[in-house]
Amino acid sequence: MEDKKANIVAASSVITLITLIVIARVCLKLSSTFFLIFGAGIAVILAVFAWLLIRHHYNFRRKQMESQYKSEGRELRIEYSFLRKVAGVPTKFRYKELEDATDNFTALLGQGASAKVFKGILSDGTPVAVKRLDVEERGDREFRSEVSAIASLQHVNLVRLLGYCCVNPAGPRFLVYDFISNGSLDSWIFSRKLRPNGRGGCLSWDLRYRVAIDVAKALSYLHHDCRSRILHLDVKPENILLDENFRAIVADFGLSRLMGREESNILTTIRGTRGYLAPEWLLEHGISEKSDTYSYGMVLLEMIGGRRNVSFIEKGTHDKSHRKWHYFPKTVNEKMREGKLMEIVDQRLIDSGGIDEREVKRLVHVAIWCIQERASLRPSMSHVVEMLERGLVVEQPPDTQMTIVDFLTVDEDESQPHINGHHRPNIAAALAAQQVDSNNENSSSAYSYANAMSALTPR
Ligand SMILES: Nc1ncnc2c1ncn2[C@@H]1O[C@H](COP(=O)(O)OP(=O)(O)O)[C@@H](O)[C@H]1O
Ligand SMILES: [Mg+2]
Repeated sequence: MEDKKANIVAASSVITLITLIVIARVCLKLSSTFFLIFGAGIAVILAVFAWLLIRHHYNFRRKQMESQYKSEGRELRIEYSFLRKVAGVPTKFRYKELEDATDNFTALLGQGASAKVFKGILSDGTPVAVKRLDVEERGDREFRSEVSAIASLQHVNLVRLLGYCCVNPAGPRFLVYDFISNGSLDSWIFSRKLRPNGRGGCLSWDLRYRVAIDVAKALSYLHHDCRSRILHLDVKPENILLDENFRAIVADFGLSRLMGREESNILTTIRGTRGYLAPEWLLEHGISEKSDTYSYGMVLLEMIGGRRNVSFIEKGTHDKSHRKWHYFPKTVNEKMREGKLMEIVDQRLIDSGGIDEREVKRLVHVAIWCIQERASLRPSMSHVVEMLERGLVVEQPPDTQMTIVDFLTVDEDESQPHINGHHRPNIAAALAAQQVDSNNENSSSAYSYANAMSALTPR
């Protein structure tokens, strides 16, 4: 438009000048005034042409540069999105994309304490698991923890975050993960029957042993090989996924915490799942990476036995006071000392045969080392990897009292005064008296007991 205007102005000025020269020629003949007007007119006409030429050249250069910037910008954007993909930087999805991918959130893969997870397929054909966190304060906190912990992590045994989506500040949050086809470990060690979706059954001994190594490697990476140490804080079979080759993938970073390399432990409000929580949570002695080691040990025992660590036996009646708790780690500890370890192995594995007794012994010893009540006695996860991978003979662990864990695993039930033969006040007193870590004594245990129990997820 600008160009058109300038051209019209230039053309009309040239025409006016030529007309002026012609009129001057007619009226003034070949007088000196005419030559003056003629000279001035020609000069102005030349100036107008020069101006047009410069302007045209300038416009041409500007357009050339604009198109160059545009193509460079496009290239940069392509390069950037390629780099994001290669580096595994999560993408921001639109809600509509997730709605289409999950067919309006129809296929439920699983449900935990804080979220529902749906199967989906992205427009480029990538199968995904979409985790929907409903936003109350806790949902938002877990969303942030999960994104900040896992966004930049790259490890074969850790679930990969592909992207996220926030609808509006008050709306649900979504996390988009790689779809892990064989679901979670619990359905492969506890389940007695095959599930209709094929994601469950009895995992062989060899695969269980390899899962133990995979999980240990993932935790070792989080604890020792990341820039700031990451504590998972919710290690349990429901949060360990199995891919198509039954390699373990650690998932669910909703409760995770970052810990500075120079810090030896951190104080935080008690969260997590009963039965996998290390005693130091309750004693408010501060948690550390050794708290994950403890939960890992608990998972190992469940894998070996093919059973939950805590179960209760009904004694013929529905009266709750007649149910008796059975705490599997205690049985394992006793059998280990009696040298009868094969008695605690999952009966289905014994029936199918092919179990290496040395591996059973090694795994049990590692597990009992990991659940030592004194955090300083537990091995680091890198040491666990070494013991399991290199097939070392692992020394028999010392006896561990298990007073606190015994108590922690029990369902909160106000109507039931006795737990495993302990009276509640006695347990609180035991907690207060227990010195879990000799150089870090604290007497607030009885207080923290009351607070703690209300904050835990049953399972
Ligand atoms: N990437 C995934 N692929 C397949 N199944 C998954 C995936 N992520 C989660 N699940 C299923 O959903 C369940 C709950 O997911 P999780 O992230 O642990 O949620 P929550 O934070 O509520 O515990 C898991 O136990 C598992 O069965
Ligand atoms: Mg979970």
